[in-house]
Amino acid sequence: MRKRLHTRQATFRQLEVFREVAERLSVTDAARVLHLAQPTVSTQLTRLAQALDAQLFEQIGKKLYLTDVGEELLTTSRELFEVLDRLEMRLAQRAGLAVGRLRLGVVTTAKYLVPGLLGPFCKSHPQVEVEFQVGNRAEIRRRLQDNLDDLYVFSHPPRELDIELTLLTENPLVVIAPSEHPLARRKRVRWDELAGERWLMREQGSGTRHAIERHCEAQGLRLDNPITIASNEAIKESVAAGLGMAILSRLALTHMAPGNLVELPVEGFPIANSWYLVVPRGKQLSPIAEAFKHYLLSELGAAA
Ligand code: PGA
Repeated sequence: MRKRLHTRQATFRQLEVFREVAERLSVTDAARVLHLAQPTVSTQLTRLAQALDAQLFEQIGKKLYLTDVGEELLTTSRELFEVLDRLEMRLAQRAGLAVGRLRLGVVTTAKYLVPGLLGPFCKSHPQVEVEFQVGNRAEIRRRLQDNLDDLYVFSHPPRELDIELTLLTENPLVVIAPSEHPLARRKRVRWDELAGERWLMREQGSGTRHAIERHCEAQGLRLDNPITIASNEAIKESVAAGLGMAILSRLALTHMAPGNLVELPVEGFPIANSWYLVVPRGKQLSPIAEAFKHYLLSELGAAA
């Protein structure tokens, strides 16, 4: 008779090591995160592959790839550890402790919004361990699809996925220019007065870029030959240095921006935009994720 999986001596530790390697596709990086020597990681992987009687990775050239079995095992390991995490948190709750891991995935503009709320939350829940992932819309969408985090903040939630979303607050997109720009002191600026300006734009996959493109298309506006810069911070620095103009989240402008930037009062702007809290439909939130969700919604007020 075929042996059942759990009787084949694969251990949680092996699965944990496997998951770290599989998510990074690098033994070296996983060893560093796990504080283990590389040979120890390799041994754990070999034992796990033997226990399952299957190959989990393929090495082609210098790159590591997951086999189909490896992909299956990665999905199962994530589910398994999520369940174990929830168990750990429930046990801690029974003991009256608010402990556990809170995993957040937020788009880059929301990194100006969420930390200010996370600070006080962590103060009142000192035992909570936070994993805060920041990426552009496409990167955070992938994390959501792979079910890697508890809660997500998007301004353009991927509505094609099965999600629940709640409006958090507004995220207007504004035109920014260096403060010495000839139009900087004007009360009103027409779009056609910006003809000939050089524009700095976020990369493909960015929600900010997506919103700007949609707005320009709807209004019949053109941004000719934009320069692509894949970071809000680098865009702010470049605008301040006189490289061109940009359209960014107003919060990006007010947070840690170089002093010599202004918002231009351009007709038709700001572009209306909002942030949403996103949870995969049917996801069982851990008690701490549930607590953070309520806290976010009560602080930002849009939930009521
Ligand atoms: P992003 O963030 O431009 O980094 O994708 C965007 C958003 O607000 O959707």
